[in-house]
Amino acid sequence: MNKKAVLAYSGGLDTSVIIKWLSKKGYEVIAYMADLGQEADFDTYKKRAIKTGAAKVIVEDLKNEFVKDFVFKSLKANAIYESGYLLATALSRPIIAKGLVKTARRENAAFVAHGCTGKGNDQVRFEVTIRALNPNLQILAPAREWELKTRSEEMEYAKKNNIPVDTTKKKPYSIDVNLWGVSIESGKLEDPYYEPDEEIYQLTKGIDKAKAQASYAEVEFKSGIPVGLNGRAAGCVSLISKLAKIAGDAGVGRSDMIENRLVGIKSREIYEAPAGWPLYIAHKALESLVLDRETLHFKDLVAAKYAELIYYGLWYTPLKEALDRFIDDTQKRVSGVVRLKLHKGNCVVVGRKSPNSLYKKELATYEKGDIFDHSLAKGFIEIWGLPYKGLYKGLYKGQEGVV
Ligand code: ARG
Repeated sequence: MNKKAVLAYSGGLDTSVIIKWLSKKGYEVIAYMADLGQEADFDTYKKRAIKTGAAKVIVEDLKNEFVKDFVFKSLKANAIYESGYLLATALSRPIIAKGLVKTARRENAAFVAHGCTGKGNDQVRFEVTIRALNPNLQILAPAREWELKTRSEEMEYAKKNNIPVDTTKKKPYSIDVNLWGVSIESGKLEDPYYEPDEEIYQLTKGIDKAKAQASYAEVEFKSGIPVGLNGRAAGCVSLISKLAKIAGDAGVGRSDMIENRLVGIKSREIYEAPAGWPLYIAHKALESLVLDRETLHFKDLVAAKYAELIYYGLWYTPLKEALDRFIDDTQKRVSGVVRLKLHKGNCVVVGRKSPNSLYKKELATYEKGDIFDHSLAKGFIEIWGLPYKGLYKGLYKGQEGVV
């Protein structure tokens, strides 16, 4: 077996140290970077990887694929984990893992490596995906095994081995960024009562600094997918960037939660999803207009399961694919426009329209033109309540004023 390893490289301290650590152990390291819209300085990172000992660096622009095949599937499902996390990091792991597997095949490498520790969800997502796509690959997780127990030990190792890292910039938090959002954890955030400094936020303004006037975002959907913003057609990547700017300036998109990790730990997490929140809200608003009640309610159950599958690293699984087929079937009707008003951290729906609308004014109206047959309600209620008729009779006997 060769000793070639494709490493998921971020350019940061951990994965830079891993390049050196693996090469010292005799591996030929190919550093693999996926561009998911994190706006990293790829040229600097490329040079850094080579200087640190990588044999080769590969940067792949996966932005379009990420949005189309991962983010928008999650959006169509209305997937959200524990009511606050739109899954930006969790969605990125399977596409990066797929990139590793494909690169390993192309480069004829027997190993793939990642920089996750043993406490997080990301190790699970990487490894489950890699094994689903190619069980013959050997997986290396140096940060789970090595002797470098603390950040300062890693810094020390970097210094001793001439690994170029930004030692001037302290990095008090662990931050993961892509087009769909930012995940921030650790450092002072480990105290759940600690209010984060404004500086930790990358994409959104705080309420105090948010724009004074309200902004509007009109999002057009076709079959469940956003295709236009404020009257203009937009490609998926640029739509997300544009909406993120509008919403971020309005202070929309933050969440602060205590989250249940897959490995059993509760952790404090700060998220920013300035495009994700408005799109999630708008998509649900459109579905409420065009889907019938039973489909809508059932879809809510599916949303919870779908979010779990993403969070738990189970993207490449038969259940997730079967759910996609159900969801896609429902989305055929989900076309139209939703108008949102964004102001000082709020994002509210102020209008919605669709050629597939199931809303019938002549049934809903309390004004002239009402065609709803009120007399039918009497019989409906009698039969609806039949199983309960008299069931509680006498229950509150003696308690005056109750029944
Ligand atoms: N808790 C989140 C998740 O499991 C975010 C993880 C962030 N990862 C990171 N390397 N900072 O999806």
